[in-house]
Amino acid sequence: MEVVLCDDEHEVARLAADAVEALVRARPAAVLGVATGSTPLGLYRELARRHAAGLRFDEVSAFLLDEYVGLPPRHPQSYREVVRRELAAPVGLADERLHGPDGTAADLPAECARYEAVLAAAGGIDLQVVGIGANGHVAFNEPSSSLGSRTRIKTLTPRTRADNARFFASPEEVPRHVLTQGLATVLEARHVVLLALGVAKAGAVAAAVEGPLSARCPASVLQLHPHVTVLVDPGAAASLQDADHYRQVWRDKPHWQGL
Ligand code: F6R
Repeated sequence: MEVVLCDDEHEVARLAADAVEALVRARPAAVLGVATGSTPLGLYRELARRHAAGLRFDEVSAFLLDEYVGLPPRHPQSYREVVRRELAAPVGLADERLHGPDGTAADLPAECARYEAVLAAAGGIDLQVVGIGANGHVAFNEPSSSLGSRTRIKTLTPRTRADNARFFASPEEVPRHVLTQGLATVLEARHVVLLALGVAKAGAVAAAVEGPLSARCPASVLQLHPHVTVLVDPGAAASLQDADHYRQVWRDKPHWQGL
């Protein structure tokens, strides 16, 4: 894992956008994996700014990490709608290029299998943006998730539902279930960029990067991936033991290497 200790959330967004921009310039038909939640919003705003300055996304496809079960299709908090609003529309990514599991499908296991097949048919994800839960979840693979899991139905923990209640009128409105890419699905992306902001994520980031590989911190499975970039602000970096080492590696990085 490459751990980059950023000065603030703006640098996190800028470096993540640099990685997306380099990919899209090299491969106009790139396949992006996108997360929801608060953390990637700065990245999405930065990509919208770059789009306004000429960066094109016409041929790019985007795949959601997860979706709530049971929210009506155009519900403002359905993840497809959030990504449409925050990323796809601002960068000119057409609706038919935005893919997600359908949380209203009558046969949810069949829908999960369909989503995996669409992902495979697209050739897999070039760059997957992920956030991290305060409990170490990545996508909605909550603690104790199988490290070999694929897209499936998961039950959200009370903590995750409480964390996400800020997006709903009342905590009871937060759905109990989601469809989420599995950890093995996430590991197939060619580059994973994990973003974390704020001290509430410090323990989870340290466990994911430096802790043992463990289903108790599902994000620790990223230690098995050959190309992961972890972009953290000072709060999210607060519990890392080897911060000096990460700083030195970043300082001495050959200038021709991207993220
Ligand atoms: C969202 C997702 C989640 C979030 C995580 C952090 O699609 O998969 O894993 O990335 O819950 O959420 P925020 O960024 O709101 O702290």
